[in-house]
Amino acid sequence: MTNRKAITDILKIKHPIVQAPMLGVSTPEMAAVVSNEGGLGSLAVGGLSPVVTRDLIRKTKSLTNQPFAVNLFTHEIPAYAESELEPMRNFLIELAHKRGYSLNKEALTSFKFYNHLDQIDILVEEGIAVVSFTFGCLDAQSIGILKQNNCILIGTATCVEEALYLEEQKIDLITVQGIEAGGHRGTFINDISLPQVGLFSLLPQIKKAVKLPIIAAGGINSVETMKAAFDLGADALQIGTAFIGTKESIAISSYKEKLLKTKDTDTTLTRAFSGRWARGIRNEMMAEIEQSGIAVPPYPLQNSLTAMFRKLAQQNNDSDYTNLWAGQNAAQVKGKSTKQVFEGLMGFYYSLHD
Ligand SMILES: Cc1cc2nc3c(=O)[nH]c(=O)nc-3n(C[C@H](O)[C@H](O)[C@H](O)COP(=O)(O)O)c2cc1C
Repeated sequence: MTNRKAITDILKIKHPIVQAPMLGVSTPEMAAVVSNEGGLGSLAVGGLSPVVTRDLIRKTKSLTNQPFAVNLFTHEIPAYAESELEPMRNFLIELAHKRGYSLNKEALTSFKFYNHLDQIDILVEEGIAVVSFTFGCLDAQSIGILKQNNCILIGTATCVEEALYLEEQKIDLITVQGIEAGGHRGTFINDISLPQVGLFSLLPQIKKAVKLPIIAAGGINSVETMKAAFDLGADALQIGTAFIGTKESIAISSYKEKLLKTKDTDTTLTRAFSGRWARGIRNEMMAEIEQSGIAVPPYPLQNSLTAMFRKLAQQNNDSDYTNLWAGQNAAQVKGKSTKQVFEGLMGFYYSLHD
């Protein structure tokens, strides 16, 4: 039993297809195309500064007058001592040097971190209709403020317990993220070891446990995968990897090219780039960090430690020294523009029989 009409009514969109927020890949242009086509575009602003957040929102608003989701990271900002980062910092400086990049210690020291608490006021002021989030649940005060402003809230769950928690907190919709999904795991209940449940197993269990409408994410990019997700209880679908290769994506060209050649076994979960588990295509940087034997600091510390190195690599179109987030079903990724990818997905959608 699917609830597709209800979810499109709640989100005020035409089609139950969500373009996944993808920090470092998706853009206002991408989100606007999807929203203009009747899906739900998503703008990724997780961990960005208030100034950049507002700029990206305004840019998206200038490109569409349809609803789009603004996606936040709801992690906590850890207390830490600079000395704890020293081993990883030194290792990265040396590794960068071996690769021909110059990293100085100052750029890898005294980080400034932001989380959703720095962004809520901006979302309200900008009249954002849909807020999605991952890495945790919004705090009660933020939920209250956003709801007072008629905002629809979408949380991310990677296991039944997280879905139940989001429902208890009165979140409106749940994105169910299977282990196939590209990018970071949304996992936030820390006393459970990392949930690694596939979408096939997770969807029916969450459907049974909660009453909220469900958006399925992970490995969806064909008629068959769409049908399976709807049959297993999804009310809408969230798709990420399929949009990485588009011209609206800011992924570097060598990443896009690698994606086209990615086989089912080429991605893995790693903490190497950010300190949080995320799925990406294996590469040298991932292997070097994992094999270094140096403890990887938690998110967002490791994310900031590797950020400058990854930026230099991206400037040099060097796909071996930056994160290449991708899902397990990347092999079928095709299409040159967001509109073409979205139209392809809509073609699959319409070929399904109710
Ligand atoms: C490059 C990339 C970046 C991502 N960044 C985010 C993000 O900023 N926020 C978020 O909630 N999910 C993020 N995700 C996860 C997606 O929301 C979604 O779960 C995933 O893309 C679905 O699986 P698929 O990639 O197989 O379609 C990202 C995924 C990818 C591939």
